[in-house]
Amino acid sequence: MPDVPDVFDPRIYAAGIPHDRFRALRDLAPVARQEEPEILGWPAGSGFWAVTRHADVVRVLKDSGTYSSHLGATQIRDPDPADLPFIRRMMLNQDPPGHGRLRRLVSRAFTPGRIERFAATARDRARELLGAAFAGGGEVDLVRAVTDDYALLNLTDLLGIPASDRGLLHTWTERVIAYQDPDEPPVLDGEGRPVNPRSPAMLAEMFDYAQELAAYKRAHPADDVMSTLAASELADAELEMFFFLLTVAGNDTVRSAAPGGILALAEHPSEQRRLWGGEVSMDTAVDELLRVHPPVLSFRRTAAHGTELAGQKIRAGDKVVVFHASANHDERVFADPHRLDLGRTPNPHVSFGDGPHVCLGAHFARLQLRVFYEEVRAACGGLEPAGPPRRLVSNFINGIKSLPVRPSAPSAPRS
Ligand code: HEM
Repeated sequence: MPDVPDVFDPRIYAAGIPHDRFRALRDLAPVARQEEPEILGWPAGSGFWAVTRHADVVRVLKDSGTYSSHLGATQIRDPDPADLPFIRRMMLNQDPPGHGRLRRLVSRAFTPGRIERFAATARDRARELLGAAFAGGGEVDLVRAVTDDYALLNLTDLLGIPASDRGLLHTWTERVIAYQDPDEPPVLDGEGRPVNPRSPAMLAEMFDYAQELAAYKRAHPADDVMSTLAASELADAELEMFFFLLTVAGNDTVRSAAPGGILALAEHPSEQRRLWGGEVSMDTAVDELLRVHPPVLSFRRTAAHGTELAGQKIRAGDKVVVFHASANHDERVFADPHRLDLGRTPNPHVSFGDGPHVCLGAHFARLQLRVFYEEVRAACGGLEPAGPPRRLVSNFINGIKSLPVRPSAPSAPRS
């Protein structure tokens, strides 16, 4: 079909979510063939099926027997075949039943009790960062001044990483997530080709660090996730991979969600007033903000056998990519999907995925966002835009690189 809109090119997303293209796909070609030409120095790929309707996205995510995370891993770009066995050690890139063993083991480190204990620390941190950023009362780049550090520091607390090592974590996640963005020049191999940021060569430093940290936690256990993992039956190689998964999954997602939520609030002053005035609950607001600004744009699966989806034949080995932002705006499920309605219930958005890989950190993410918005209200009485945002060039993370804002009202009294 010649007129199928392109939703692969990572540069498109620098202008925001391509809602018109997604709508056309949902209506006319809900499982649409996409080309993968060479872009930004990255080699061409074999192409994939873009899945854009909510019901089909959920079906793909739930049916891991048909749509495998293991066969070709979970990124649109094919990994180097030589790296595949290594990448498959990560829980994210496994299928049941093997996936279930790891998931059960690591879930023990994410108990609700432990997560709740981080609420007070997250609140202090939000207060401190916002207080410093808005001390002058003027315009602030919320991303640089507040949200980048907020997400990173909350994650390092949860993992139990010493304050002096936090910069390392930031560098590692930037390498992996921002590799399509011109602000992050790629690391090149001997022949001048970009090196896949998920290859063993690029990750060696992070893995050595994970082992050192685990050894330290075995000797000095504390109330943090790495202490629990270090004491568990996870093999060394599994532990390294889990550390990698958490540093990426737990950092860039919240780092996208926090400014993304504020951007949506700043663009909808009447909804923002409803929230600060207590007319809608913070919990429904957090989910609605995640619906309109999903931090993750896509995840890939590979067909384990021939099948059919929304009338489209799919062959064994085909790449199938679900688009969360499109599912979250599917008019078949959400009434008036482009309206921000902070009181929206039910709200079956798929920003945290679905099925066996549904986000393990969802509770921690919601907690951080709730605390953050509450502290924005207390520190600034609300925020309004002071310039256009700059967005990440990526078809994977819906990143915001800068967000100029200013306080919109005097600070609310602290309750
Ligand atoms: C708003 C923030 C977040 C969003 C939108 C988000 C989104 C997602 C999504 C869509 C998946 C499913 C991947 C798939 O289908 O293959 C996922 C999985 C995962 N997330 Fe999150 N995430 C967030 C925050 C976090 C945090 C804070 C952590 C940990 C501290 C975390 C840890 C994980 C892990 C470990 C998995 C893999 C689960 C598995 O393979 O079974 N996430 N996340």
